Amino acid sequence: MNILVLGSGGREHAIVRSIVNSPKSEKVFVASGNGGTAQIATNVKLDQNDGAAVLQFCKDNDVELLVIGPEAPLVAGVADLVREAGIDVFGPGAQGAQLEGSKRFSKELMMQAGIPTATYESFTDEASAMAYVEKVGAPIVVKADGLAAGKGVVVASELSEALDAVKDCFGGKFGESGSTVVIEECMTGPECSLLAFTDGITVAPMATAQDHKRALEGDKGPNTGGMGVYSPVPIVTDEEHAAMVDALERTVATLRERGIDYRGVLYGGFMLTKDGPKVLEFNARFGDPETQVLLPRLKTDLVDVMVACAQQRLADVELEWIDDWAVSVVLASAGYPGSYDKGFEITGIEDAQASEGVIVYHAGTAERDGKIVTNGGRVLNVTALGKDFQSAREAAYAAVEKIDFSSKTYRRDIGAKAAQGRQAWE
Ligand code: AMP
Ligand code: GLY
Repeated sequence: MNILVLGSGGREHAIVRSIVNSPKSEKVFVASGNGGTAQIATNVKLDQNDGAAVLQFCKDNDVELLVIGPEAPLVAGVADLVREAGIDVFGPGAQGAQLEGSKRFSKELMMQAGIPTATYESFTDEASAMAYVEKVGAPIVVKADGLAAGKGVVVASELSEALDAVKDCFGGKFGESGSTVVIEECMTGPECSLLAFTDGITVAPMATAQDHKRALEGDKGPNTGGMGVYSPVPIVTDEEHAAMVDALERTVATLRERGIDYRGVLYGGFMLTKDGPKVLEFNARFGDPETQVLLPRLKTDLVDVMVACAQQRLADVELEWIDDWAVSVVLASAGYPGSYDKGFEITGIEDAQASEGVIVYHAGTAERDGKIVTNGGRVLNVTALGKDFQSAREAAYAAVEKIDFSSKTYRRDIGAKAAQGRQAWE
């Protein structure tokens, strides 16, 4: 079948690679893709948030499955429009995507479903929000309600930081996204992502993964889209795993009770607190860079899984995973997540991929005159598989050394804490 994937990051390169490897796929289009997807599929120019344009493209090119990578088109309702036209879509409609598009919506749903999460209050006026922050004191977490490209969350250790964050939100720093503010209890503990495929009824959890959100080693510096990741997460106990699965199942069941038919990926971001796993956030899509360690470990045909979700028959599919561990290191442009230069030639990708179990996913790259050049903040995701955690880590870092571009920067401590065990977080 012909398939259209929306998105242009490392996540989409990983999705497209698995789709292209499936015997079920024929023509695979990516809007707008990157230098990596250009090598294995057809990149097309299309406004991913314009549902009518996406639908027209699907009709013109006999697309039978639309896969939506990023959150913005989901929140914009692109899935609804295309699904109504009778085309299979992997990704929830606008109502379900509110889980990610509105933190208040997702917190209210968690309360209704009895899902453990940080205690919170939400505000639509600055004075009440300021008064609440003054009353509770630091540490405290301030979140813009809507989408803010990962920048709308401030974990404030000082009261002044929290008050500034409230002012920023109501002052318009995040546009409409900040006109409602969620203020939360600050939790501590290791983080763990658990994503699940779902067709709105059945929930099929993937393997666990752990992202590294801060820009600098030792979890210092500003939050980023993610600097590295590994899967599975060795410190998670069976009890914690069961609690996370329960949270995802309850979420889908509660959506269903509300008449929301959610088909795609439900991403749970959890903090493993002393009182058990608590939800930090939900996303309505695959994680980036989590996907770059999850999909290489998935044995089941991804197209089969996606079509089963879209057609609400996921109960018929059994997910199988390979036993190998996976570690992925993000190579970024110096300056990211602030400003950075781009257009630098990248060398050594083929050499790095020549090692067994190494896959280099493109994120912010472009093809120019037959060369691959940097074209974003997160440039490449170097994933390696290994029989154990340590060998996967070593293979990933050995591959990282083979790749070169001006402004290349990366964290050298991806997975370091996991290697030390749980006490590394105490
Ligand atoms: P979010 O986008 O809501 O996942 O927030 C981004 C990051 O901020 C999370 O991955 C956590 O590291 C941190 N964070 C969010 N909420 C809290 C919280 N209630 N307590 C402590 N850290 C948090
Ligand atoms: N890795 C975090 C995210 O995808 O939101």
